[in-house]
Amino acid sequence: MAVAGAAACGSQPDGTGGPSGSPGSSVAPDAAAPADPGPGAPSAGPVCTGEATALLDKGAKQLTNLCARGYGDPISRAFCATPPTLTSLADVQKLVGLAFKPGPYTNGGTSGKNGNPGFILTAQSTSITTRKVSQINPRTIFFTPPLGRGRLSGPPQPNPSYVAMGFTRGDMAIELLAKDPTMNGGKGDIRFFLLKYEQACSSAPGGCTPGDLYTPAVESNFTGWSLYDDEDLKNTTLDCRQCHQPGGPGTPRMLRMQELQRPWQHWMYNDATGVAALRTDFHAAHPANESYGGIPAGVADFGDVQQLEAFVENNGFLVQPNEFPGKAILAELGATGTSATWQSAYKASEVAQFIPVPYFDSMATDPVKVQALVGQYSAVAAGRLPASQLGDMSDVFSDVAQRAMTHKPAAGLTGRQILVQVCQQCHNSHLDQMISRATMNVERLDTLSRAEKDEAIRRINLPKDDCSHMPPQRFRELDAAEIAAVQAELAK
Ligand code: HEC
Ligand code: HEC
Repeated sequence: MAVAGAAACGSQPDGTGGPSGSPGSSVAPDAAAPADPGPGAPSAGPVCTGEATALLDKGAKQLTNLCARGYGDPISRAFCATPPTLTSLADVQKLVGLAFKPGPYTNGGTSGKNGNPGFILTAQSTSITTRKVSQINPRTIFFTPPLGRGRLSGPPQPNPSYVAMGFTRGDMAIELLAKDPTMNGGKGDIRFFLLKYEQACSSAPGGCTPGDLYTPAVESNFTGWSLYDDEDLKNTTLDCRQCHQPGGPGTPRMLRMQELQRPWQHWMYNDATGVAALRTDFHAAHPANESYGGIPAGVADFGDVQQLEAFVENNGFLVQPNEFPGKAILAELGATGTSATWQSAYKASEVAQFIPVPYFDSMATDPVKVQALVGQYSAVAAGRLPASQLGDMSDVFSDVAQRAMTHKPAAGLTGRQILVQVCQQCHNSHLDQMISRATMNVERLDTLSRAEKDEAIRRINLPKDDCSHMPPQRFRELDAAEIAAVQAELAK
């Protein structure tokens, strides 16, 4: 079955016109999720290029799969009541209850007020879109308005029901989560969803260009979509649980916010440290009349990170794993130019105790790269440059910043240390052991079979856009010398 799917993969568009008529093709009429062999023999994995969802069911078929599970959360209920017609980000916001009311809008009177969703932009992310997010392509986050604001003082006031959404241009995907009161024996828990969509460029020769992916064009004219939940995604590189349930099965699921408290230097919030420079770059690229990432035109600066903090804290997630203590880091950087606090947080992620940490400073980008892209983006927006000429808006980081953000491993590591920093996040003993990815357990490197190590060697040498390439390029990459070092370790 997986092999049949493989033939179609990469070339099979996701159907058109919403879920009706989406799934299937003459090549692979029943292309299901790759059969999950469970731990044991190494799996060659899907044979395809591009997205990790390439071999999963699609469109109406996938929606039927999901709705048959009978979930009790507001997102499942919204999608399963009657199959919705969705052709834009705004349609999705409306469906899940995160749409804006008509203006006028004011700073302080919009986020989480007057019927609008809570929202905030971030200029940096350690999520599944980590390599695409910067101040010129910020990530937008929307959430049910919390029952408080800022640091939790006193007993938490959880929302009886909540939804949240994350969106980053460049991905053609919308991240959703919702509290399902029926989970966990009636105590409630969080479900995660990925709405993967297609546009005309998805099936065009040459695929989608930065002009398709990083401009307002990416937010409308969907030609098809598929909704996956965290169960569908668990053995793919888009697995939500590896970060939102980092302790593995049976442990709490969580909302995440690494820089939870003031000075919020990665969040584009009114009095966040460094925000003026972040906003200068953002506005130099994006004209005032552009709606951005689900936020109406002119409203991008009205987000409220104090509401996101309260949303996270009041709903039970005051304690964040390896929290980024921005205040201490800033003070140390100001005094000595380095931060021991950041170094120790980074070290803890380098040895795979935690997911990667955010950059130590508010701005992680190379100013020369940013200025070139700002010039191109503003020219495209003004109609002076064809969108097809826009450069890669995600190519904004210096090599040093990429290592600090774990888009690349730390410099000077041994092959074994690289395997820990780069692979163990998804290949360890505490995450779900019932799926094939668990066979490649970096914590048990010395007892891995020859066949498993050979499969790892094969995968690190595959082309970067191959579905089976490791590490997944969505998160990180290795250079030739690092591949050689890892290979030498795996050859032992
Ligand atoms: C973001 C999570 C993630 C990271 C990081 C990651 N992997 Fe994977 N890996 C997966 C998933 C999910 C699968 C299962 C799907 C598949 O077979 O492609 C997998 C499968 C594998 C397999 C096949 C396991 C089997 O026996 O079926 C090997 C080998 C592997 N990865 C090696 C590596 C190596 C080596 C690295 C680091 C250089 C790495 N992975 C980094 C998520 C990850
Ligand atoms: C590599 C770790 C990682 C993975 C994998 C991941 N997330 Fe997240 N997620 C984060 C972090 C960190 C944040 C905080 C904001 C940021 O850094 O962008 C976040 C924030 C969110 C938010 C905003 C609400 C909140 O918790 O702050 C949503 C919604 C979300 N993620 C959904 C998902 C979904 C759906 C998936 C799977 C398709 C997923 N995430 C996979 C790390 C991850």
